[in-house]
Amino acid sequence: MRRCKKCGAPAVIYMRQHRLGLCKAHYLEWFVEQTERTIRRYRMFRRDEKLLVAVSGGKDSLAVWDVLWRLGYQADGLYIALGIDGGIGYSAESQRLAEKFAQERGLTLHIVDIPGEYGLGIPELARRSRRGKGKPCSVCGLVKRHEMNRMAHDMGYDVLVTGHNLDDEVAVLFGNVLQWQMGYIVRQGPVLPEEPGFARKAKPLVRFYERETAAYALLRGIEYIYDECPFAQGAKSIYYKELLNRLEEERPGAKLQFYVNFLKAKEEGWFRDPREAAGPVQVVLHRCESCGQPTTAPGKCAFCRLMDQVGAQAQASRT
Ligand code: AMP
Ligand code: FES
Ligand code: ZN
Ligand code: ZN
Repeated sequence: MRRCKKCGAPAVIYMRQHRLGLCKAHYLEWFVEQTERTIRRYRMFRRDEKLLVAVSGGKDSLAVWDVLWRLGYQADGLYIALGIDGGIGYSAESQRLAEKFAQERGLTLHIVDIPGEYGLGIPELARRSRRGKGKPCSVCGLVKRHEMNRMAHDMGYDVLVTGHNLDDEVAVLFGNVLQWQMGYIVRQGPVLPEEPGFARKAKPLVRFYERETAAYALLRGIEYIYDECPFAQGAKSIYYKELLNRLEEERPGAKLQFYVNFLKAKEEGWFRDPREAAGPVQVVLHRCESCGQPTTAPGKCAFCRLMDQVGAQAQASRT
């Protein structure tokens, strides 16, 4: 039987990449300490800043909100109701769990209801759009990004926090490296600085494996939605995660090393935007003529163009 490295009690978890076994109490303590270290290490945010945590009702985002709350950060939640049923009442159940979590802790949860705001849920928006060949994930990603930015900006939050874990980040990095998508690679990281009109974005769980965030949520008694989004099946990211898990099986720590060494190389300047040679890169941003959010091209932003394309009624435009 594995024992807790700190107190010798039976371990509830053993992390091969750290050669570390811990009992329940010490695991919960370790998880919180490690998160705080990551927040400091990558200069994510301070205690006097206002955080908006995007919560999906899943283990990662509820775990990060719980940790930030325990650490005494000012963190409110944002749930985006996407109108996805998938035969399992996916959106309704995840909303119920996000609300329950907030209520139990007396925390503020903002809710954006996509079908309520725009007249259509994600499946219908995707069906009517040309984006993503009828697959909802691309439309869904665009809508979520837009709404997260809108809410963070309109309500004056400094930082938008998401629950991305190491497995998520490694799968994205692996996909980008397979295609050498340098534009994405140079921008990938645990924290994205604020830009005019956009809040800073931070991912405090980037150094935890998925099984570790799941263990934290379970051991803390957090009720979360186990089901993946019904549209996630067959997604490329899931395939990459499976491949990487096979690698990890043979070589414990491979995923962590792949990511951490990438970040180190980035810090050392190996991944630099070549345009920086001529001075700091100034991306020219325009204001979307419909919603006011920053956009790279003049005219309407991608979200508003989607809404026009599908004939949705945008009621949530910014004045
Ligand atoms: P995903 O893109 O589903 O892997 O989710 C990544 C992160 O986005 C999660 O950890 C959450 O922080 C956030 N997120 C996903 N879905 C929602 C949602 N419906 N409402 C608010 N935040 C979400
Ligand atoms: Fe958006 Fe699945 S969560 S398509
Ligand atoms: Zn212990
Ligand atoms: Zn717009």
